[in-house]
Amino acid sequence: MTLSVHARARAQDLLDFIDASPSPWHVAASVAQRLEAQGFAALREEERWQLAAGGQYFVVRGGSSVIAFVVGAQPLARTGFKIVGAHTDSPGLRLKPRAPHAGEPMARLGVEVYGGPILATLTDRDLSLAGRIGLRGENGPQARLLRFHKPLARLPNLAIHMNRNVNEDGLKLNKQTELPLLLGYLQEAFPPGEQFRVLLAHEAGMEPEEIINWELQVYDTQKGVFWGAQEEFIADSQLDNLASCHAGISALLNAQAPAATCVCALFDHEEVGSESAKGAGGSFLADVLGRIGAGLDSEAQAQALARSFFISADMAHAYHPNFPAAYEPLHLIRVNGGPVIKTNANHRYATDGESEAVFIQLCEAAEVPYQQYAHRSDLGCGSTIGPIVAARLGVRSVDVGNPLWAMHSVRESAGAADHALMIRVLEQFFR
Ligand code: CO
Repeated sequence: MTLSVHARARAQDLLDFIDASPSPWHVAASVAQRLEAQGFAALREEERWQLAAGGQYFVVRGGSSVIAFVVGAQPLARTGFKIVGAHTDSPGLRLKPRAPHAGEPMARLGVEVYGGPILATLTDRDLSLAGRIGLRGENGPQARLLRFHKPLARLPNLAIHMNRNVNEDGLKLNKQTELPLLLGYLQEAFPPGEQFRVLLAHEAGMEPEEIINWELQVYDTQKGVFWGAQEEFIADSQLDNLASCHAGISALLNAQAPAATCVCALFDHEEVGSESAKGAGGSFLADVLGRIGAGLDSEAQAQALARSFFISADMAHAYHPNFPAAYEPLHLIRVNGGPVIKTNANHRYATDGESEAVFIQLCEAAEVPYQQYAHRSDLGCGSTIGPIVAARLGVRSVDVGNPLWAMHSVRESAGAADHALMIRVLEQFFR
């Protein structure tokens, strides 16, 4: 297949977005930057909101969850909210608070596993650190983004000569003893923690004493690429779920004076269960919707929620021809075959017959092909924010997402054409 110029540009913009966003805090900053560039106004939760019809706003909670919205021209009670949701976090490794430690013979960084990454994929990659640091401020601590651009740390494999059965048994890593990243030879006279603080301060352009703490994620410095005979595929880190974040925001940025209030909600902490102040299980979305509808009486607010619709966008498992036995044979998802509707009878996905039909009609109206996914009945099914948000708000919801290979690898891949298709159907939703 050949990729259209438009589809390639959309996919390239996604890769640029991911490469600029190596941690959930950077994702929120990248999203804010794109929104502000198109006239969205930043709101603060601790201030009084005065919203105007047609106004474009966004609000960040906890530095890594963002909700952006365009206030519709029609009364909320008549239109409800149109909401797209996705998550800003990806599984991987996080630095422990007292990460740097002297080792034999070199300093290493202690890490904790965040969510469910495929750990073996982190070996032999050009890894670095990104996240935020806490700084001493006159009126309390201040958070600042920090990113090392060059490869800083590494997890080298053990040579096959010491791990003879690695190809038969797979690579197994003890999470406590075998995951610390090699950092380098530090000066023996100084504690590794102090030297690490100096390293952070140097990168941030600060004095070491100004840094109170750090919250840092390990990321892969390799940039996203197109690959395949016709360059019909893309590969990058964090495609799950920055592809859906990017699609949702791109669609919202194209929402032209919508009748209904259109919302794009991007949550941190999906990979660890969403139960946090800024996660999908927290109050963030309900709080924001409540404030948008603050002028309405309780009857009108209930009407608005009853007329609302939530599209939860997260990635779906693309068929891998080398592993046919892993898939439900009647629900094979083809990369570049279009957005996927995910269903699960046990409600691991929020989709039901009613919400699925709404999404199918959106695809038909947008002339976008769609696919239907169900997991093998003899395998446990994953979940996402769809059922959590649906339960919390009581709104009709559907779980969808684009096909992805190697979910939770540090280097995932997907179809270059699918991304533009997902944006198009979300634009249709916001129309
Ligand atoms: Co995901």
